[in-house]
Amino acid sequence: MDAIRILGGVPLTGEIVIGGAKNAALPLMACTLLTDKPLTLINMPELVDISTMSNLLRQHGARIDQSALAPGAGGEAGATGRSMTMTSERITSITAPYDLVRRMRASVLVLGPLLARMGEAKVSLPGGCAIGTRPVDLHLKALEALGAKIDVKGGYIHATAPGGLKGANVVFPKVTVGGTENLLMAASLAKGDTVLENAAREPEIGNLAECLNAMGAKISGIGSGTLKITGVPLLHGARVAVIPDRIETGTYAIAGAITRGDVVLKGTRFDLLESVFSAMRQAGVTVEPVEGGVRVAAENGLVGVDVMTEPFPGFPTDMQAQWMALMATANGASMITETIFENRFMHVPELTRFGADVNVHGASAIIRGRKALSGAPVMATDLRASSSLILAGLAAEGETLVNRIYHLDRGYERLEEKLGACGARIERIGGG
Ligand code: EPZ
Repeated sequence: MDAIRILGGVPLTGEIVIGGAKNAALPLMACTLLTDKPLTLINMPELVDISTMSNLLRQHGARIDQSALAPGAGGEAGATGRSMTMTSERITSITAPYDLVRRMRASVLVLGPLLARMGEAKVSLPGGCAIGTRPVDLHLKALEALGAKIDVKGGYIHATAPGGLKGANVVFPKVTVGGTENLLMAASLAKGDTVLENAAREPEIGNLAECLNAMGAKISGIGSGTLKITGVPLLHGARVAVIPDRIETGTYAIAGAITRGDVVLKGTRFDLLESVFSAMRQAGVTVEPVEGGVRVAAENGLVGVDVMTEPFPGFPTDMQAQWMALMATANGASMITETIFENRFMHVPELTRFGADVNVHGASAIIRGRKALSGAPVMATDLRASSSLILAGLAAEGETLVNRIYHLDRGYERLEEKLGACGARIERIGGG
């Protein structure tokens, strides 16, 4: 199994091009199941999760063509990436099998589209994962409100709506990104009006709603917590750009800050990550929008800043582990409170191997910053935990070996290359 070896302590300088957002691309891909016409996505990242979703869609009957794009052709300034055209003329299977769903929970996003188009779907129930139990009960309750009949049997969700889905008022008791996405897709082909209240407001939801509208859907309230969808009988093809990855942006922003370097993140947008940038500024990091991206620079003397994870526009849970790595190198104490997932401090024991001083009390962690971290062999447990270990390794004196890096390949494209181009001494080695 591959590992990543880092010789830390080098301030990063240079430019990093940010790719298309994994968490936007996955629901956009699921939209192919809503129409028999071609859907083209541009600025697509090249990631293991994208291949997993492609395999899932193919076995539902989608034909997928990919092509490389010239730099800058992605729609956002400086964006690179591929384009992907998906055509699902005929749905050949309404079943999302266990073997694919267990690899990636986002597979559950085929439920809404399959049910809406075919009147039936069978999707393996995603199990728990490293960061929490992560049920899908809110997706199912909301689909039931639209008239679906749902049975969970033999590990599968079996959803049927023989007469088609019917618009309804849905109030989510808790903000759910995936639940909002499944419902937006399903309600687009339902009869009549649906209102989703307490809907997620993440930028990835906006990207999905704009894509559906480009396909002929009628969604209003985009960007707010109340989305109104007027169902249409048919959707057509479209060509849509995937928004820049805000979590990749934030991870490299912290790479610049934690190494006390100076980096420009190209092809991304400041407004996607204001909560993180504002906390970085409070910590003493320079963060400024520049043409085509964001510049991040830091010197020694950063100070601890408390954060609490919250749905967008709050501080994202997907940046919590990386923030902890940065705070481990700041002066003074800081507190991180995790409110989204119940088990998202798996990186703490690994960060302490670098000499980080972190104490967890329930949903909060107290970090007492240190002048220097020292390199260590560590083990990645999930995607964002892995990136926090890479960040700590970049800052630490000496050698770090991050094992189990397959998690990283799910969400970070060409990570070693991007960091290496800014001066990081980082390489992938086999057999770790
Ligand atoms: C999305 O997951 C992201 N994944 C996650 O990113 C991200 O951490 C999360 O949103 C929160 O921002 C994708 O977009 C593919 P939720 P999702 O439904 O949709 C509870 C990464 O690293 N809940 O908003 O699964 C749930 O357990 C990943 O890229 C229910 O109780 O998250 C959690 O506590 C990790 N019942 C909270 O709501 C439900 O039916 C928010 O989950 C659904 C969710």
